[in-house]
Amino acid sequence: MSEKRIFDHPVLKFDRGQEFYFEFEGKKIKAYEGETIASALYADGLTKFTESKILERPRGFFCAIGKCSSCIMSVNGRPHVRTCVTQAEENMKVERHGARPKFPGIDVGRGKEIKEKEIEIAIIGGGPAGLMAAITAAKLGSEVHLFDEGSNPGGQLIKQTHQFFGSHEEDAGTRGIVIGENLAEEAQKLGVNIHPKTKVLGYYFDRKVAVERKGRFEIYDVGGIVYAGGAIENYLAFENNDFPGVYGAGGVQTLMNEEGIVPGEKVLMVGSGNVGLIVSYQLLQAGVDVAEVIEALPTIGGYQVHASKIRRAGVPIQTSHTIVKAVGEDEVEGAVVHQVDEDWKKVEGTERKIDCDIICLAVGLRPDTSFLRQADCEMEYVAELGGFVPLRTEDMRTTTKGIYVAGDSAGIEEATVAALEGKLAGAALHEELNEEDEETKRLKREAKKGLEQMRKGPYGKVPRLGVKTCTVDEEVCG
Ligand code: FES
Repeated sequence: MSEKRIFDHPVLKFDRGQEFYFEFEGKKIKAYEGETIASALYADGLTKFTESKILERPRGFFCAIGKCSSCIMSVNGRPHVRTCVTQAEENMKVERHGARPKFPGIDVGRGKEIKEKEIEIAIIGGGPAGLMAAITAAKLGSEVHLFDEGSNPGGQLIKQTHQFFGSHEEDAGTRGIVIGENLAEEAQKLGVNIHPKTKVLGYYFDRKVAVERKGRFEIYDVGGIVYAGGAIENYLAFENNDFPGVYGAGGVQTLMNEEGIVPGEKVLMVGSGNVGLIVSYQLLQAGVDVAEVIEALPTIGGYQVHASKIRRAGVPIQTSHTIVKAVGEDEVEGAVVHQVDEDWKKVEGTERKIDCDIICLAVGLRPDTSFLRQADCEMEYVAELGGFVPLRTEDMRTTTKGIYVAGDSAGIEEATVAALEGKLAGAALHEELNEEDEETKRLKREAKKGLEQMRKGPYGKVPRLGVKTCTVDEEVCG
């Protein structure tokens, strides 16, 4: 496939900006305004971005949202730049530095005065949880700053082309991408200060947050924080699972639906949860062949409605199947799968090779809690919520004073739940920093009721149990 950029899509329209060129290891690379370095390079055919530290095996990108470091390169002499979240600029010089980059010998800002600013509320993360926290706190009268690594707020919503389920008030029937745009617009109208392309580096224990934007450092002296940093995609153990061409389903979705670039020609999807099924359908929409979807469990994990759509398109879904190997010299040229029995043992004689150039892993998410750990929030392993999550009160306050949590960082659940938790955390933090008032109390009640509704019934049993495990009394949180 020579042209990887999508120009014709049944749902999405890619308004590419000005065309320009930058330099990659002496070669001129075409990019469009707004494209990341990794996307432009991938569109040009590059698949090997960096190397592993010990064995120096090639690495392709994986998450495409700045959470895994598979795409780090040197940009204008500065090493360790995550190219999947750094926009390409005209004439910039990019090169691979392998596993052991040299000291850059450039001015990294030591000794320079760092700008410091006092603000009331910092929201970290611009997905549904962060945006709803920002909207709620701003509506109640707080001064809110939202920091997000992406170019546009909306988080994972901005790559969701499917319509959401749920209740009418929670945007059922609306495409995720539209929900994200609407929330971002509302936040802007309410005067939320949105800081895009801004990385939050860490927390200092006198309530200061350090951020980096375009190589410049700033410190924010904050009244309180809602952390809504989202999730990290899970990996899977199999031979050659580090080959370029083994990508996270979310990474593929970002590349395809946000950047308008197809990952390859033929995909093997591993995992039949909603993410695996939805991304398979989106691959088909973008003109990419999906060889099959495999699932280790004996039943399909996602909603039947999503499964039926891809089956109707002729994609087989093989349950009780697992992947054992990525085939190829040093990148994916195929995959070996086999059937498993009820004890997860190989069923002899069922091993077979699938032709594909991409293996897409949709095997779950785990909460991104790195900032919370650094800020000393007490954590608990809660399998029902996807991994380690912070202990929190009913109001989403963590054990570190002034820090609240919402969304996937608090436990893996639906986007609607993330938005409701954001609403609750935003209102509760506003309440902590201001006088008590009826409207704040009403919004908190409304959010709690919404969460209860979302977690009731047999489908809500798992998250309900998880949330119960990590919810603690006010006194525990100090
Ligand atoms: S950090 Fe760039 S691909 Fe994960």
